[in-house]
Amino acid sequence: MENTEALIGQSENKNIPQHVAIIMDGNGRWAQLQGKGRVAGHKAGVESVRQVVATARKSNVKALTLFAFSSENWQRPAKEVSVLMDLFMYVLTKEVKRLHKHNIRFQVVGDLSRFSEKLQKNITKSEQLTAGNTGLVLSIAANYGGRWDIVQAAKKLASSVKQGTMSLDDINEETLNGETCLANLPTLDLLIRTGGDYRISNFLLWQAAYAELYFTDTLWPDFNEVEFLKALNCFDHRERRFGKTGEQARNEKT
Ligand code: IPE
Ligand code: IPE
Ligand code: MG
Repeated sequence: MENTEALIGQSENKNIPQHVAIIMDGNGRWAQLQGKGRVAGHKAGVESVRQVVATARKSNVKALTLFAFSSENWQRPAKEVSVLMDLFMYVLTKEVKRLHKHNIRFQVVGDLSRFSEKLQKNITKSEQLTAGNTGLVLSIAANYGGRWDIVQAAKKLASSVKQGTMSLDDINEETLNGETCLANLPTLDLLIRTGGDYRISNFLLWQAAYAELYFTDTLWPDFNEVEFLKALNCFDHRERRFGKTGEQARNEKT
């Protein structure tokens, strides 16, 4: 407890990332280490989600984006996929009211067309319930792929050009960015991956261009408030230069 308070205290008056995204990895290995089936790891991971949402809110992070299911995860055994879908449904039904109570805006990003009609309806209902909230924006990436996101944005622009509502010269980084899934959120500042691997796994490819990357060996079900605060403190010590020299970056800060 003391540890948590010390870490929160340390982050006061410091650089808080406005937008944090997390690749929540390591559920299967966590369960295996406990002698349990992979599914037990996914279930235990829900508590870590609760903790990071609460900590993000308390730390004044504006947007939190969690990678729950990638476009490649369909390749897993059908039983595991089905448990993940059930878990998603359960969380939507049980947890969204609590999010709403805390003024959190909830959204799901990804190609939702592959989900069951029931799940899609539940997602829309949850998004509508929390649409007017002004606190933390919690985005769940489900059937999401970074390449898919860029392609769907490009298609929207191409369609506008085809219809004549936009000219070819209007296609630029800003307009393409405007069609990506998280365009309504602050720029991604910090990307965390748990579970010990050092890769992006087709998550926020476009958005991560200048994000700070934080990798930890901690498996997702063991990732808690203290672990999250450690990542926020690490972010605070990074020097973000955006292509400039360190001297320039430091002068701009003061
Ligand atoms: C992340 O944990 C959760 C999802 C991808 C849905 P994993 O299930 O990938 O766990 P490991 O990487 O096999 O341990
Ligand atoms: C990335 O984890 C996807 C999610 C956390 C939802 P994976 O476990 O699917 O990533 P790879 O397959 O190890 O790259
Ligand atoms: Mg994994």
